[in-house]
Amino acid sequence: MARLYPFLSLLLALAALHGTCGVEYEVENDTPNTLGGVRFDHDIGIPFTKNIMGTINKFIWKVFEQPTPADRKYVPRCSCKACKVMYSIRKAFTVVMYHELTHVFQWSGNFTAPGSLTEGIADYMVLRAKLNGPGFALPGQGDRWDEGYSVTARFLEYCDGLRPEFTAALNNKMRHAYSEDYFVELLGKPLEQTTPAMARLYPFLSLLLALAALHGTCGVEYEVENDTPNTLGGVRFDQDIGIPFTKNIMGIINQFIWNVFEQPTPADQKYAAVVKVVIAQYDGFEGFVDISNNLINISAVYLQGMQGDVLRTAFRALMYHEMTHVFQWSGNFTAPSPLTEGIADYMVLRAKLNGTGFALPGQGDRWDEGYEVTARFLEYCDSLMTGFTAALNNKMRYAYSEDYFVQLLGKPVDQLWSEYKAKLFEDLPYELVDSSQNFHGEWDANLLIEADSAKGASFSTSHSTMQVPCKAAEASSREKLG
Ligand SMILES: *[C@@H]1O[C@H](CO)[C@@H](O)[C@H](O)[C@H]1NC(C)=O
Ligand SMILES: *[C@@H]1O[C@H](CO)[C@@H](O)[C@H](O)[C@H]1NC(C)=O
Ligand SMILES: *[C@@H]1O[C@H](CO)[C@@H](O)[C@H](O)[C@H]1NC(C)=O
Ligand SMILES: *[C@@H]1O[C@H](CO)[C@@H](O)[C@H](O)[C@H]1NC(C)=O
Repeated sequence: MARLYPFLSLLLALAALHGTCGVEYEVENDTPNTLGGVRFDHDIGIPFTKNIMGTINKFIWKVFEQPTPADRKYVPRCSCKACKVMYSIRKAFTVVMYHELTHVFQWSGNFTAPGSLTEGIADYMVLRAKLNGPGFALPGQGDRWDEGYSVTARFLEYCDGLRPEFTAALNNKMRHAYSEDYFVELLGKPLEQTTPAMARLYPFLSLLLALAALHGTCGVEYEVENDTPNTLGGVRFDQDIGIPFTKNIMGIINQFIWNVFEQPTPADQKYAAVVKVVIAQYDGFEGFVDISNNLINISAVYLQGMQGDVLRTAFRALMYHEMTHVFQWSGNFTAPSPLTEGIADYMVLRAKLNGTGFALPGQGDRWDEGYEVTARFLEYCDSLMTGFTAALNNKMRYAYSEDYFVQLLGKPVDQLWSEYKAKLFEDLPYELVDSSQNFHGEWDANLLIEADSAKGASFSTSHSTMQVPCKAAEASSREKLG
């Protein structure tokens, strides 16, 4: 457990807490024979709960910047009585504990602080503990600062951005009383002024608020339509993704693309007044873009095979790809499509949405094989020159030429590709040909390694095979024999 939950302090830390802080943690399962009670005993248990109570307690004091007992709310004993809601997953339980324990230790202005704020601070603690899961609000989400819970938590996170440790200071001000004036005292402006500024601070995140602002300043409108609500995939879309979520991520992705392309002003960006997404019933591919209409057409048949987080992640990756097509330059349609597809997949990579099926660095036979192979090659070119892919895209505004590679990196693209492949072999560790060992590093576990003395070593993943020249294999055998 210590290894699994490195962030949780264990018996040792608990002992320390007992000694120094004097809080006792009690846990009791009052309902051991119910479904949830049995789950609690089996999957969570009293020792685990006591452990995390101590850890969380310390974490809360740290975040609230209360180093000494004089700063803290005095709590002699803190008990968790087989908390009414049971979670089968320890992580979910840990989240609840962060939230609830914050209620124990936070100030509430002698119970005059609005519940939405105290709930927001409790969720803020969850955020600080990096335990915000998929259901947690995204930055900028919500309509009011005091909507409570994760919306307010995100707002507090934003305030922290204006003034380091704002939330800790706010909490500490709330020791005896509460006033909205604390925001003015700490940030120099009233809440109403603080709220609209969110759109500026989280430029890469969309939300109703930022969307409204975007309408005015950047002029992109996002429309989403489910044209096939009664099919399997259409129902999945409505249930697991939905129109508000899609609009949200469109704004986020749009900003992300402009950031990655290093296009801060409208003059740098490709103009699109409206970007529309439709979900339609067709088979054969995941989605495509009708560039002249900025219309992203997504296959409901593709969506129907997945659900939940898996579906949402795949959908996001697809949206990064398709929206890049909307906003990338194509040299007035003269750039080779393997390159534009590669740049679209490069965006997926930059968004860290390359899943296990995504091409590995060095895969493929040609730089313009397209999609993921080309994306990895562009990633390599970035390593030679920071911002290479952004610069290449920006050069492609009116026309395309392979010479852009020479202009930016000083070498023709074919030479860059050879060097890229050669570099990969140089980087191969010797023990790679030893099939008894797993390859450590980026390729990790799904890599199957076979040694073949004639051909060199061949590495196959679930989706591709790669050959290593004999030289590398020989060197490795020698190393092993030696
Ligand atoms: C909290 O408020 C109550 C009245 O509502 C008052 O009696 C009490 O003294 C207050 N406590 C503190 C610590 O200010
Ligand atoms: C989306 O694509 C499908 C398949 O090509 C087509 O039948 C449908 O009309 C398209 N939807 C829109 C709105 O263009
Ligand atoms: C794009 O190419 C067409 C001809 O193929 C030309 O008429 C048009 O002016 C070009 N547009 C730009 C922006 O260069
Ligand atoms: C995605 O690519 C990055 C950068 O090359 C790599 O560090 C990461 O492990 C990859 N993720 C997966 C799931 O393969």
